[in-house]
Amino acid sequence: MTEKGSGMKDYDPDEEEDVTVQMRLEGAAEGTRAPANLVMDRVRFSEVLEEAESSDRLVTLRNVIRRLRAIIESPKSDRETIIRERPDAEGCTVIVRRDILLSELDQILEARTIERAKYYVRRLRAGILGTKTNHINEINLLRWKEYDDIITDSLWILPRRDTSGAHLAWYWGNFIPQIPRQMMLRYTRTGDWVLDTFVGSGTTLIECRRLGRNGIGIELNPEVAERARELVESEPNEHGVVSDIVVGDSRTIDIAEMLKRYGIDSVQLVIMHPPYHDIIKFTEDDRDLSNAPTVDEFLKMFGEVVDNVTPYLEKGRYLVLVIGDKYTKGEWIPLGFYCMQEVMDRDYLLKSIIVKNFEETRGKRAQKELWRYRALAGGFYVFKHEYIMLFVKK
Ligand SMILES: C[S@@+](CC[C@H](N)C(=O)[O-])C[C@H]1O[C@@H](n2cnc3c(N)ncnc32)[C@H](O)[C@@H]1O
Repeated sequence: MTEKGSGMKDYDPDEEEDVTVQMRLEGAAEGTRAPANLVMDRVRFSEVLEEAESSDRLVTLRNVIRRLRAIIESPKSDRETIIRERPDAEGCTVIVRRDILLSELDQILEARTIERAKYYVRRLRAGILGTKTNHINEINLLRWKEYDDIITDSLWILPRRDTSGAHLAWYWGNFIPQIPRQMMLRYTRTGDWVLDTFVGSGTTLIECRRLGRNGIGIELNPEVAERARELVESEPNEHGVVSDIVVGDSRTIDIAEMLKRYGIDSVQLVIMHPPYHDIIKFTEDDRDLSNAPTVDEFLKMFGEVVDNVTPYLEKGRYLVLVIGDKYTKGEWIPLGFYCMQEVMDRDYLLKSIIVKNFEETRGKRAQKELWRYRALAGGFYVFKHEYIMLFVKK
């Protein structure tokens, strides 16, 4: 959430940076070309690694790995039928990141002892043949190096918003799509169910479609819900998932009834991006958290939403809270930490706090200068961050 305003805004392309989709595998490192993937014959690849592993001298092992490396460097030279043209449906092929594979082979070549080299070979072979996940996502831990699109640091400086496809950035107070995307990659599997209790412009549901997760959103404002629905529907649904936006008050809506429509009784991820109290007034409705008359009342309403959804989040699964702080009459009000405490007072364990920057927008120089002047004069700091707080249901 970046700007003060009220509800919907006209889309102004000048306000956003040029956008290419960020943090996807295809474009992991900014400014570089997509790292190429190779389709490998699982059996042949494994046989070559076995051959290396059975060497009794380091020099012989290195020769096998050098032979393999030359093929990976120049796939056209492959006379050993290790590289395939395309993946097959029977699982006889495996897709690997070429750059990562080359670095793993180099690591083997650099090993100083045969035991160490064999250890690396075994590890590479295990990643080709097997899968190890922690069951709440699909990250194959045996090939963890390939997931460099997934952020694991607690400080996020994201320079650009993803405005590709249906992400039009038309709604004041929306969050950037990278937030739900990262959360779903870490905390859900294909086909899981995600509930967003303040769905706004549908950012979460658009990402759900892209990643093959079912998404249900609740939104108080019927007009916003309608526009979000149209946008979500305009996003291709290649995985055939459910995307539904229900109009209602997240504090009181009958969630059991909502889920029953899809034959489920729980969800695997809850995302909450409530109003940051009154810094953006979303509607005139008293049930809207942005109209809470005091911070205490806001926290009470927020707690009621947590109470309403908690019974329907699977045990051991994640609740994600995205929230920022605010100033009132020269005093910093730590809304983020207050809300965090509301969640922790319930059946949750705090897992992480991520600090994320507000992305820079163009053409706001005058406003920036005004805020800088006010900060210098008033002895405060200008907000440049918000929080993504992660909790696990006990
Ligand atoms: C910060 S915005 C969420 C933006 C959303 N993440 C997006 O990317 O568009 C908060 C939303 O919560 C909605 N809201 C406020 N009170 C609500 C309530 N009691 N129940 C459901 N939605 C509510 C507001 O109308 C607003 O759209």
